[in-house]
Amino acid sequence: MDLLIEGKVALVFGASAGLGKAIAASLVQEGVRVIIASRNRERLKQAMAATGAVDHLTVDLQVEGAGPEVVQEVIDKYGAIDILVTNTGGPPNGFFTDIDNDVWKDQYQNLVLSPVEVIRAALPVMQRQQWGRILLVTSVTAREPIAGLTISNVLRAGLLGLVKSLSNEVASQNITINALLPGYTKTQRLIDLHLDEEKICGEIPAGRLGTPEELAHLASFLVSEQAGYITGQMIACDGGYLRGY
Ligand SMILES: NC(=O)c1ccc[n+]([C@@H]2O[C@H](COP(=O)([O-])OP(=O)(O)OC[C@H]3O[C@@H](n4cnc5c(N)ncnc54)[C@H](OP(=O)(O)O)[C@@H]3O)[C@@H](O)[C@H]2O)c1
Repeated sequence: MDLLIEGKVALVFGASAGLGKAIAASLVQEGVRVIIASRNRERLKQAMAATGAVDHLTVDLQVEGAGPEVVQEVIDKYGAIDILVTNTGGPPNGFFTDIDNDVWKDQYQNLVLSPVEVIRAALPVMQRQQWGRILLVTSVTAREPIAGLTISNVLRAGLLGLVKSLSNEVASQNITINALLPGYTKTQRLIDLHLDEEKICGEIPAGRLGTPEELAHLASFLVSEQAGYITGQMIACDGGYLRGY
């Protein structure tokens, strides 16, 4: 299927590795001009070579105001942002009593305020051109809390409210906003967490971890022309992990 997004400009955050990098690669395969952004310039260069992205920009989304600067750079250089994918590093694990106010505030910036800021910065261009696709990479924890992932359970659920609120405000302008909820997916982050893979796979009906590419193909479809009637949705790619409707 031709996704009809050839030549569009996409900005993908958190794209030097893992899920963001896979999404960037998948969009490049569709002929999209992809700009990738994250903190580490060396890793970004390697990711650019591996994915075929046209450009890379360094940004630390933990810093308030840094994300919108990158959005503006892309608009100034490429004249538009058609597709915006928000993604960043995962929060630290921890039970409620492990987490102090400073960590909550940092992670509020990382997980909530950074997508809010970059969406706010990109929206006027999308509104002018009456076309836009916004995709938030969140987690299955947004719908089903996982023990010991307190920050993720709380803040990612809040983002679903953002998706629902904003989607209704901009749907008539041909702008969609959806959340992608990855289940356990084999990225370096997951490997580094040293989780008990056998135990996790026992909780997943598919009996295995997902691959970044499986999530990335779904992401490409959700930002396609054909997905123009899909908005305000929270779509999991989780091998059946979420049990509820
Ligand atoms: N993998 C899974 O199973 C899974 C499941 C559910 C949800 N998620 C969530 O999905 C997101 C991506 O996961 P992943 O597995 O792809 O993680 P990953 O392999 O650790 O990749 C994270 C990406 O975000 C960038 N990044 C980290 N902190 C950043 C910051 N402060 N500012 C800008 N960029 C930053 C990293 O690049 P630099 O180091 O270059 O900045 C990297 O490109 C995370 O939020 C994770 O919690 C993952």
